[in-house]
Amino acid sequence: MNMKVNIAGVEWNNPVTVASGTFGSGAEFADYVDLNRLGAVTTKGVANIPWAGNPTPRVAETYGGMMNAVGLQNPGIDLFCERDIPFLRQYDTKIIVNVCGKSTEDYCEVVERLADEDVDMLEINISCPNVKEGGIAFGQNPKAAEEITKAVKKYAKQPVIMKLSPNVTSIAEMAKAVEAGGADAVSLINTLTGMKVDINRKAFVLANKTGGVSGPAIHPIAVRMVYEAANAVQIPIIGMGGIASAEDAIEMLLVGASAVSVGTANFHDPAVTMKVVDGIEAYMKRQGFESVADMVGIVK
Ligand SMILES: Cc1cc2nc3c(=O)[nH]c(=O)nc-3n(C[C@H](O)[C@H](O)[C@H](O)COP(=O)(O)O)c2cc1C
Repeated sequence: MNMKVNIAGVEWNNPVTVASGTFGSGAEFADYVDLNRLGAVTTKGVANIPWAGNPTPRVAETYGGMMNAVGLQNPGIDLFCERDIPFLRQYDTKIIVNVCGKSTEDYCEVVERLADEDVDMLEINISCPNVKEGGIAFGQNPKAAEEITKAVKKYAKQPVIMKLSPNVTSIAEMAKAVEAGGADAVSLINTLTGMKVDINRKAFVLANKTGGVSGPAIHPIAVRMVYEAANAVQIPIIGMGGIASAEDAIEMLLVGASAVSVGTANFHDPAVTMKVVDGIEAYMKRQGFESVADMVGIVK
């Protein structure tokens, strides 16, 4: 039996990574998780210069999940390259760098900077609902999504994963647009835009008013969108949204994801990814699957 998967030419030891922004750049979780046992580590979004993020409060609990409006706080590409890449390189795992920006030029600058760095894949976040410029502006319009994909592909030396937003009418159309732009893979879903009111303060809970909803509550929506995207494009899909167990991850694989990311569940149980890896392996043994690829998309 073989747990390895090939995502756009990059071989991961198993199909499990972490969702950007829920695992830092790995160091915060290294006491709980053997990073060698993750197929890949996906980093928090990184921009060309440091970003402070949004004013607080910027996270809140919700039924079956959470809301965040962190606003892509990050140290900028210089510190990231100096500190986080060497840390992750100590481990036998692939490195996926999540890239954010406010303009096409911002994204391209980071991608160009990473071209000669020792990282395996790039994930371009065009789906953050919590920043006013950039991000989602590219992720809700198929033409803009295609154009930004083409632009980053000009500079990228690593395979490019375009990260899609669920805050659209047709996820299939968005997946097709980034495929047309030359994306090597797509990942989905980012968070769903939500709102929460503190009835005693008679005010919004988050300073940003709205935030991205994540966690188990969004899982069925994510499974549906992964299925729709998988049926629309030929490139591999990395499925995420509310995965908190091996069962949740296997659902994603069966509807067409070639790999999965675990996000919000890391906050609740820092070692959850290890349980997901072990659970997928146990399921494959029980069900007689020789490879992960054999189960991808078999539920039609
Ligand atoms: C606190 C927090 C920070 C996040 N930061 C990022 C980010 O920097 N870049 C990105 O592409 N997605 C970011 N996301 C979205 C997640 O990567 C993921 O797409 C989403 O939360 C759905 O998965 P989940 O339900 O397993 O958390 C963030 C999510 C949370 C909860």
